Amino acid sequence: MKVYFKDGNVATKNLTPGISVYGEELIQEDVEYRIWNPRRSKLAAALLNGLENLDLQETSKVLYLGASTGTTVSHISDIVIDGRVYAVEFSPTTAKKLVQLSRQRPNIAPILGDATKPKGYLNITEKTDLVYCDVAQPTQTELFMRNMNLFSTDDGVGLLMIKARSIDVVQKPKKIFKEQEKKLKEKGFKIIEKVKLEPYEKDHIALLVEKNF
Ligand SMILES: C[S@@+](CC[C@H](N)C(=O)[O-])C[C@H]1O[C@@H](n2cnc3c(N)ncnc32)[C@H](O)[C@@H]1O
Repeated sequence: MKVYFKDGNVATKNLTPGISVYGEELIQEDVEYRIWNPRRSKLAAALLNGLENLDLQETSKVLYLGASTGTTVSHISDIVIDGRVYAVEFSPTTAKKLVQLSRQRPNIAPILGDATKPKGYLNITEKTDLVYCDVAQPTQTELFMRNMNLFSTDDGVGLLMIKARSIDVVQKPKKIFKEQEKKLKEKGFKIIEKVKLEPYEKDHIALLVEKNF
């Protein structure tokens, strides 16, 4: 996967040289790199914390649930240069920024949609190598599994970003994480890797999973 580690930072090669998407630093070397801010992107936090089994290729296809304004989507777009990121976001105001981003980056397909109703975007997407989920909702594990079942290729993987407090504000995060893992295993998903996101995000975990059926 074309991700670069520079002076304690993670970075991607800028697909659109000269353009900074969310105010991130640009570094000029042989080519231009964009510093990937781990406090703005949970995937950058996971990579800095050692996530090692996610392998996106230049032609990979990604379904991204909870795209927001496209901070993380933009770095994935730097990596899958000849692939595609289907970026699903349900807030129309936020999705407008995604549309603007997709004008600069043709490998992003913005979708105004609800990740709890995946059939709504079934006809405008395709099977993907990665289903990425960062919706910060109480039912995120369930909607993630539904999307994996519909969209993942047979050898595809899923990356679920779990924010304990959006599931339960009272229970201990460790217990919440265990419960979400149990739900995944019961439905036939195998957990390949777990990475905590501290110190960048408190009480968050990234789970990399594959279908085991
Ligand atoms: C934590 S933010 C995502 C940040 C983003 N992943 C990033 O790294 O740049 C969660 C986003 O999920 C969106 N969201 C929440 N529920 C959703 C749903 N059911 N379908 C689609 N998007 C949803 C929210 O509007 C919000 O923009």
